[in-house]
Amino acid sequence: MPRASNLPPTWPGGPPVRGLAKEELPEVVAAYAAAARRVREAGFDLVEIHGGMAYLLMQFLSPRTNRRDDEYGGPLENRARFCLEVLRAVKQAVGADFPVGYRFLADEWLPDGFKLEEALVFARMLAAEGVAYLSVMGGCYDSMALPEVAERSARPAYMVDLAAAVKRAVPEVPVIAAGRLATPEIAGRVLAEEKADLVGLARVILADGDWVRKARRGEPVVTCDPACHVCEKRVSRALPAICPRWPRERQRKWRELVRRAK
Ligand SMILES: Cc1cc2nc3c(=O)[nH]c(=O)nc-3n(C[C@H](O)[C@H](O)[C@H](O)COP(=O)(O)O)c2cc1C
Ligand code: SF4
Repeated sequence: MPRASNLPPTWPGGPPVRGLAKEELPEVVAAYAAAARRVREAGFDLVEIHGGMAYLLMQFLSPRTNRRDDEYGGPLENRARFCLEVLRAVKQAVGADFPVGYRFLADEWLPDGFKLEEALVFARMLAAEGVAYLSVMGGCYDSMALPEVAERSARPAYMVDLAAAVKRAVPEVPVIAAGRLATPEIAGRVLAEEKADLVGLARVILADGDWVRKARRGEPVVTCDPACHVCEKRVSRALPAICPRWPRERQRKWRELVRRAK
């Protein structure tokens, strides 16, 4: 797996990684562009570049993982270079009329990690390149297990403060907030208080597939259990997500479908 510099695996226990030689970078940029072109050809409405967690673009951006001594390492301007090259190549590949968004990590929540202050400068760089939106997240594989991060991540709306800060930094770019916007009331407040332009729902909508319909009708929703990590554990083992909040019969049917698909 390519990596920005020679360091431990992308996630604890992950496969070994190595630093990318400068000569390899154009090939990787071209691969991002080709993938984005396929997204458009397949009929999707937009493409999102994953700049979060601890994946390749973040490995370049973070001073924690980027130890390069060429023009791709050192000050933020250099660490951001590869990310911006990828964004430009993707935008060129899909054309000016096709939205290109960015999964944007605003703070790694690690003492030596990438921090909000630099993230806001990076957000302005992406805005200057014409990014269609920023989908804001916090934390990374290496911080997830820290007790203070685990505690923070269990709270409602735990990433909204980051999204709000990004929105203030780039008011011209639509910003998506996510992270335990558990009920329509919580999500609605984020929008009403103009902390974000859009809300993203993952576990929220996995726990209750009727969440949107119920929100429209003002009905109570089933909420994700902050102590449960079943879907994350299953997806990390390349298994389809199943939620213990679903009615037993639905869980049974889903397991049966998965079994038959094997
Ligand atoms: C099982 C699972 C898989 C996820 N996969 C991705 C992913 O592939 N890309 C991504 O950007 N975020 C991914 N996320 C993060 C979500 O997009 C979202 O930002 C996060 O879970 C917080 O929102 P939530 O509280 O509504 O789940 C995933 C989350 C879960 C629980
Ligand atoms: S599986 Fe667990 S963590 Fe995932 S959505 Fe359902 S309750 Fe939440």
